Formats: sequence, C-alpha cells, structure tokens
Amino acid sequence: MELKIYKDKAEVAKYFAIYLKELIRTNDKLTIALSGGSTPKVIFDYIAENFNDLDWSKVFLYWGDERCVPPTNEQSNYLMTVEHLISKIDIPKENIFRVLGEECPNEEAKRYAMVLNETLEIEHDVPQFDLVILGMGDDGHTASIFPHEINLWDAAESCVVATHPESAQKRVSITGKIINNAKQVAFLVTGASKAEKVDEIINTAEVSKNYPATLVKPTSGNLYWFLDEDAAEKIK
Ligand code: 6PG
Repeated sequence: MELKIYKDKAEVAKYFAIYLKELIRTNDKLTIALSGGSTPKVIFDYIAENFNDLDWSKVFLYWGDERCVPPTNEQSNYLMTVEHLISKIDIPKENIFRVLGEECPNEEAKRYAMVLNETLEIEHDVPQFDLVILGMGDDGHTASIFPHEINLWDAAESCVVATHPESAQKRVSITGKIINNAKQVAFLVTGASKAEKVDEIINTAEVSKNYPATLVKPTSGNLYWFLDEDAAEKIK
C-alpha cells in the first residue's frame, strides 16, 4: 500500500492523470473499473484537457458501481463520465461497458457479472481488472458496498445489488473478490470530510473493521491512496 498525498484536488487530478497515462503507455490493453460520485469529475476534466491524445483504443472502460437510474439521469455515473471524459476523448464505443442502470437491478447485476466474465482476463478463476478506481464515502463505503451491507463484500457473485443507506437508491456494484483480484487498485479520496475514516483505516483502528473501504487489500499488493492534504489531515 502506498500513500500519495498532494496539496489539493487539482494536484491529485494531475498526478493521478500522470499515473494513468503511464499505465496506458506501458500496456497493450488496459481494462479499468471507474468510480462514481463527485471526486472523479475534476480528474476526468484534467485527463480530457491534458491527455486526450493518448491511444484510447487500448483502454476499456467499465464501472465499479452504478446508480439504478437511466443514463440520462443526473445521478448516473455513466452520464457523469460521458460529460467529463468520454465525450472529450477518442475512445471506440465498443470499448465502453456501461452498467444498464435503467434495467431491473437484479437482472443487471447478473448480466454485468457475465460481461466481466466474458470480456476480462480470468485470474485465480475470477475476472481481473488491470485497474480498479475507487472512491470512499464519509461513512467508509467504497464502490456501492455500504457499512450496513458490508456482508455483500464477501458475496460469491462478481456483482451485487446494494441499497444506499439514506436514499434507499438501488445500486449495482462489483464485489470484494473482483476489487481484490485487480492488478492495481487506486483510491481517489479528497476533502476534510474523509479525514477521520482515512485515519482510522490507515492506522487500522478497531472501528475501521466496520468500513468496506478497509477490506480493499488487493492480492497483488498494488494499492495506492491518492489523497489531498485535507483528507490526509489526521495521518500527516
Ligand atoms: C458512487 C461511488 C461511491 C463514491 C463515494 C465517494 O457511485 O457514489 O462510486 O463509491 O466513490 O461515494 O463519493 P464522492 O467522490 O462524491 O465523495
């Protein structure tokens, strides 16, 4: 596990983009599970503005989780990614594997698990991403595995249906076996509201056992925390 602490969100965006550019440059093919929420917006904007000349034909985009809403809904992680990245880079449509948020959540979780099985490398009998990008909620959730459903992390399935603790919104999320089977995992975590959980997880506080983000331990050992100083406030 490596901690990468930068001054602010803009610097996190810059250095994560450089990290991603290097991965794209040094791999013939790169399969990526994207995170949702707000943090990726600045990072996608930076990549689109500074690295839209990369060979995106080598990159295959998936989502680690999606809100069960249509792709036109402002809550859609897919829509956010189209607006901040996909619409600004030259990536083949067939390289994009969207979670169909508008479909029946249970059916879509099954379908997306099959997509992963059919299109990703299989390592240790499990689909393997080259890179899984994760965010972390103020409650210690990651992807869409929330503390009140932490058991979903160990599900036998590759994808599950989760429920947001406040809004009860349904989500489709990859599970722990997919996340921890990835060649590389990168957390993008910014803002003071995350500092307490970052501290408890990094310093393995007893309470952190309740946080799904604590369970992110890729067997490859390649885990990177991209943090801004606010999120790293308590571990600096
Ligand atoms: C989602 C995410 C989720 C997100 C965290 C952090 O769909 O909401 O994938 O896991 O990464 O909630 O969200 P922010 O970046 O908005 O703080």
